[in-house]
Amino acid sequence: MNAYLAELFGLAGRTAVVTGGSSGIGRGIATALARSGASTVIVARGAERIDETVRELVEAGCRAAGVVGDLGTRDGIRAVAEEAIRPFGEPDILVNSAGINIRPPYPNISEADWDATMTVNALAPFLLGQRYAPGMAARGYGRLIHITSQQAHRAFVGSGVYGVSKGAVESLMRSEAEAWGGTGVTSNSLVPGFVLTPLNARLQEDREKVDALAARTMIGRNGLPSDFAGAAVFLAGEGSGYVTGHSLFVDGGLSVH
Ligand SMILES: NC(=O)c1ccc[n+]([C@@H]2O[C@H](COP(=O)([O-])OP(=O)(O)OC[C@H]3O[C@@H](n4cnc5c(N)ncnc54)[C@H](OP(=O)(O)O)[C@@H]3O)[C@@H](O)[C@H]2O)c1
Repeated sequence: MNAYLAELFGLAGRTAVVTGGSSGIGRGIATALARSGASTVIVARGAERIDETVRELVEAGCRAAGVVGDLGTRDGIRAVAEEAIRPFGEPDILVNSAGINIRPPYPNISEADWDATMTVNALAPFLLGQRYAPGMAARGYGRLIHITSQQAHRAFVGSGVYGVSKGAVESLMRSEAEAWGGTGVTSNSLVPGFVLTPLNARLQEDREKVDALAARTMIGRNGLPSDFAGAAVFLAGEGSGYVTGHSLFVDGGLSVH
């Protein structure tokens, strides 16, 4: 990379924590950040997929490490926050990609469904931001990046409590942008369309539905984890320092079609 591009987009010397970095969109983003030079910590529950991702990154010459943890409880979130700084120190970049979508029919949504969804999808991004952003502000550089959803902006295909959690994260992102404004810490979100990942494996079995979703985009296909690489590197790097409180739709044009 030439020096000018490295200044704008390079992540050498930066440290990143990517929740949900062992699968799907998070894995795509962790790979992009690590390949751009960031020492990258991947957080998830399953050790096997973490190990596989870390191995792949290290073999490609990246600095990467994994942390097994559960963002489904307050204690779990706090434990992850501390464990994730062990490999490479306090992060400059936090990517909140871990998420669940349990999709019960609306009348059947229970308090337990609400709690489970809101904890992983919204409380974890809040608490991790509360833990890391003060340090980022003190060091004068920080990037909080959230992965939200079309369903944060409009209800469709049974948004349920998932849509509520993602709407909360869009507002959290704006609150963080306001709170940390002027400190060198920004907060933004990436808004996917329909991305082919394990999260929606069941839906992918219905070829007609998958094709119909692809037809709703302008690009003419559904998203892939690698589609998030460029946008994530941009939001993580020096070059996006004047971008904050922004929702960047990486959705093939789905939201405006
Ligand atoms: N795919 C789409 O079409 C789409 C669309 C809009 C938004 N999104 C959002 O994009 C993000 C990534 O989704 P994806 O499609 O890439 O999903 P995915 O492939 O299912 O990956 C989810 C990741 O989160 C981790 N995770 C889940 N629950 C966790 C917990 N309690 N504690 C720690 N880690 C946990 C998973 O690892 P373990 O299971 O091993 O813990 C995995 O690494 C999510 O926030 C999702 O809501 C996805």
